[in-house]
Amino acid sequence: EDTLVVAVDGPSGSGKSSTARGVAERLGLDYLDTGAMYRAVTWALLEAGVHVDDADAVAAAAKQVVLEIGSDPSDPTIRANGADVSGPIRGPHVTAAVSAVAAVPAVREQLVAEQRAIIAGSRGIVVEGRDIASVVAPDAAVKVYLVADAEARASRRTAELGGGDVSATRADLERRDSIDSSRTASPLRRADGAQIVDTTELSLEDVIDQIVRLAKER
Ligand code: C5P
Repeated sequence: EDTLVVAVDGPSGSGKSSTARGVAERLGLDYLDTGAMYRAVTWALLEAGVHVDDADAVAAAAKQVVLEIGSDPSDPTIRANGADVSGPIRGPHVTAAVSAVAAVPAVREQLVAEQRAIIAGSRGIVVEGRDIASVVAPDAAVKVYLVADAEARASRRTAELGGGDVSATRADLERRDSIDSSRTASPLRRADGAQIVDTTELSLEDVIDQIVRLAKER
């Protein structure tokens, strides 16, 4: 039997991470956060003093970064060049720079290859990102595209960050969405065959239930 792959795509703050982890826990599958991979590469580039707007420098430096990606949905540790960066990759410097790094085609090729290898080596996996159903795993048995209105996404993300200014968070989400949707390399969009789930009015448990049901029906 084929390995079950559940692809969860969507914009920032749509609830992807909590949802994807919850689905992996419920189904006993591995978990892969591809956004954390782009963030960890960005963290390493900032550490190395690379200018993230210099695409050639980014492409060259990204090749030197060694990532280790935890697959346990209850504790997905991520390391870059041996350092545990699970916390720092959520910080504002990485968040501000990651979309520029993720827009560089050579970085995407490198990380997509790593992602495909992780998926191929798994015993079944929930993969979250922006281009999972469209590029990374187009044969995934279950494809979900999460959406939520911008205000709901901003207030969730602000809560995740432990508080702060919702309108500033909203501006940041909208800025990243616009870069992620307009880039030429694998722009954010719903893949053919992906089921849209609008999470604006749903609880996390409801969203997880819906996706678990889709996986069981496949
Ligand atoms: O999901 P998260 O907000 O952590 O992703 C951070 C950034 O990484 C996104 O804004 C996007 O620029 C990039 N990304 C991507 N493709 C993915 C996952 C994330 O381009 N599959």
